[in-house]
Amino acid sequence: MKDTELTTPVYIVDESKLIHNLEILHKVEADTGCHILLAQKAFSMFRVYPLIKQYISGATASGLFEARLAHEEMGGENHVFSPAYTPSEMNELVKICDHISFNSINQLEAHRKTWAEANVSVGLRINPEFSTQEGHEIYDPCAKGSRLGIRLSDMPEYLPEGVEGIHFHTLCEQGAEPLAETVKAVESGFAHYLKEAKWINLGGGHHISKKGYNLDLLKKVIKHLIDTYDLEVYLEPGEAIALDAGYLHTTVMDIVENTLPILILDASAACHMPDVLEMPYRPPLRDAGEPDEKKFTCRLASRTCLAGDVIGDYSFDKMPSIGDRLIFEDMAIYSMVKNNTFNGMPLPDIALMHPDGDCELVKHFDYSDFKGRLS
Ligand SMILES: Cc1ncc(COP(=O)(O)O)c(C=O)c1O
Repeated sequence: MKDTELTTPVYIVDESKLIHNLEILHKVEADTGCHILLAQKAFSMFRVYPLIKQYISGATASGLFEARLAHEEMGGENHVFSPAYTPSEMNELVKICDHISFNSINQLEAHRKTWAEANVSVGLRINPEFSTQEGHEIYDPCAKGSRLGIRLSDMPEYLPEGVEGIHFHTLCEQGAEPLAETVKAVESGFAHYLKEAKWINLGGGHHISKKGYNLDLLKKVIKHLIDTYDLEVYLEPGEAIALDAGYLHTTVMDIVENTLPILILDASAACHMPDVLEMPYRPPLRDAGEPDEKKFTCRLASRTCLAGDVIGDYSFDKMPSIGDRLIFEDMAIYSMVKNNTFNGMPLPDIALMHPDGDCELVKHFDYSDFKGRLS
């Protein structure tokens, strides 16, 4: 089926682009001996987990449900980090995970009996207190007052008995340079823990598959950690796996006038691309420009009741009409994983575009998905 034959709204994941990203990541693993894991919080389209598994080591989870998904659908290395776990979650996690990272000494000790008796490697998430980003405080685990990771001043003198790994996650959509600086900051305070540890996890936020990313520097940093501390090195990017590898097709349902023409779409920022409102972020739209760059400038908005459910202002060579199909780019990551049915909005279907251009409908959602989450 052609992509334009799919009913909107629909996410279409582009297998060729996914493979392009995975080849870059695979080469980093092959050249350095590090392990790369899919951070499922960004992208959990498990239909392509077997494909992903052909290129990288496995997956990481933010809790039990993602860990179960990777266990059931991918079957590679399975890691998990959460600021807190319940005892029953821990009972299940130790059976399906290879690595479990804890956010505090309290949590480590609360679950010690369960993990110590299991075949699992345990780590501590540290907070290097070294911010490399400005402006997006909600995405900065090193921001003042952060709950994420143990500060150096709160670490015990030596790694607690049984702890084998150090985990940090501090970057967001960043290059290898901020990583190199962060590793230096980690070494300046935490080097003696690195000497004790067996592994280090450098978290996510590495834009490895983005054009212009400094792969040589990344490899240098990884090799430095391996050579200096004899560590197994893990990276757990989410975005880099499916960056620019998906689209959201939407239809113009109506056009209303205010200070400019407003296109009412069957897709919603609040329900189908929440990062547009949270970050905030302007998704690229195929064949459209910045406001006033092209002849016709329109506001793209949704059919929900939320006044602020606006995707942004875009310009077009030709004035869009009711019934036209618009295509948002870079919609594979942090999209379907964050969907909700506010206003009873239908969830977009999920499709896969194979390398020959043929599209396969992977999942159709309907009223039962809305009702099933309510009581
Ligand atoms: C602990 C952890 N690991 C990995 C990631 C993935 O980050 P990204 O998708 O930016 O690569 C995140 C994102 O929030 C995270 O919190």
